[in-house]
Amino acid sequence: MAATRQANWSSRWAFIMATVGSAVGLGNIWKFPYEAGQGGGGAFVLIYLVFVFVIGTPMLIAELSIGRRGGLSPIGSMRKVALEEGRNGLWQLIGWSGVIGAFIILSFYSVIGGWTLAYVFKSIMGAFSDITPDGADVLFNALLSDPITLTIWHASFMAMTMGIVMRGVEGGLEKAVTLLMPALFVLLVFLVIYAGFTGAFKQAVVFLLIPDFSKLTFDVGIEALGQSFFSQSIAMGSIMTYGAYLSKDIKVGQAAVTISAADSAVAIMAGLAIFPLVFAYGLDVGGGPGLIFQTLPIAFGKMAFGAVVGALFFGLLLVAAITSSISLLEPGVSYLEHTHGIKRKKASTYAGAAAFLLGILTVLSFNTLSGFTIADMTFFDMFDFLTNNLLMPLGGMFVAMFIGWFMLRKNVMEELAMEDKWFRVWYFLIRFVSPVGVAVVFIWLLYGKFFAG
Ligand code: PHE
Repeated sequence: MAATRQANWSSRWAFIMATVGSAVGLGNIWKFPYEAGQGGGGAFVLIYLVFVFVIGTPMLIAELSIGRRGGLSPIGSMRKVALEEGRNGLWQLIGWSGVIGAFIILSFYSVIGGWTLAYVFKSIMGAFSDITPDGADVLFNALLSDPITLTIWHASFMAMTMGIVMRGVEGGLEKAVTLLMPALFVLLVFLVIYAGFTGAFKQAVVFLLIPDFSKLTFDVGIEALGQSFFSQSIAMGSIMTYGAYLSKDIKVGQAAVTISAADSAVAIMAGLAIFPLVFAYGLDVGGGPGLIFQTLPIAFGKMAFGAVVGALFFGLLLVAAITSSISLLEPGVSYLEHTHGIKRKKASTYAGAAAFLLGILTVLSFNTLSGFTIADMTFFDMFDFLTNNLLMPLGGMFVAMFIGWFMLRKNVMEELAMEDKWFRVWYFLIRFVSPVGVAVVFIWLLYGKFFAG
């Protein structure tokens, strides 16, 4: 392993913005609303929040601590900390699973980031003006069915990601996130206010925030757990990598709670910006993955200044996506940098180009190869399944087990520097609640996928 710490966050603020930037992304604004819509609204939101604070936040604390203690890439850090604790170096497999998982997510994340980029332009060009539901459908499907156009948008999104990561932690990551994240918050607040004045705000609040417990099924619970992991960037090396750039004086517990609170706040605000429009224009809350792309343009097309509001909205989604995609590229780059001594510029180019190439399979999943499925899954579905349903829960479970059962309590306590009573709460959650909770859901999922029906 090569040298340790090469870069550090210049301030606590920069670190928080970067980590919130990783957490807040397509997961919050694109995925959360349609999952909440399909999962019956308030019931889904409530259980999602429980998972965020009971399982996800303790895991964030664990990942930040291991990353900081190791000071290397996720692979290097896991190996180093395991060896220091007198454990087997094979614990580095958690790091591998993260780096590979992040790479796979990046490959399809960039394709969807590309849709967003396309929609910013469509809105500016007035493509939504007076569009009908059928028209919005046609517009979206025309994009999905055209592999060349999709590839160009995907390439543009990846190039933006690579451009930022190439410039390093202080020059690239920090500059981008400290500028983009506050801009995103301001835009989102503006959109919620806009929706409050023009949409069916009350109906949206009732739908999202008042749980109807009859809708709380086991499947909704599973979706909520998967969504909370994805949204909090758990077990994909991103958080561990950002932890490696963290100085000792920052309290990981407080940081993790701040990150989780901001992440959930953005998801709920996104819901409050979107559902009032969905209800006001009589659109379908259970519209699925196309929800924001197929339904919001109808609303933008009807409202005053819709082209501007639409461009703002998709611009906001783009910002959120980029601050996440840089955290997906960073683990691989930090591995190439730390372990193989490859310069950051080169490392970003190699890793980004490879993820771009893999992403072509996702591009083709929506058109040329849409009929090519294994176990009923297209390439895109497979990448999503592999990361969201396998690598994330397993990785999270092993991180929790490692810190909870295989590290000396004394060392963990020293690293966390938490008040005694909070440490005890966290220690209980990470040793028992997280691993057992994830194991139950994981087994259920696999059973449902491969053995039932
Ligand atoms: N959390 C990001 C989102 O919500 C996605 C992500 C997952 C980023 C895993 C990094 C690691 O969009």
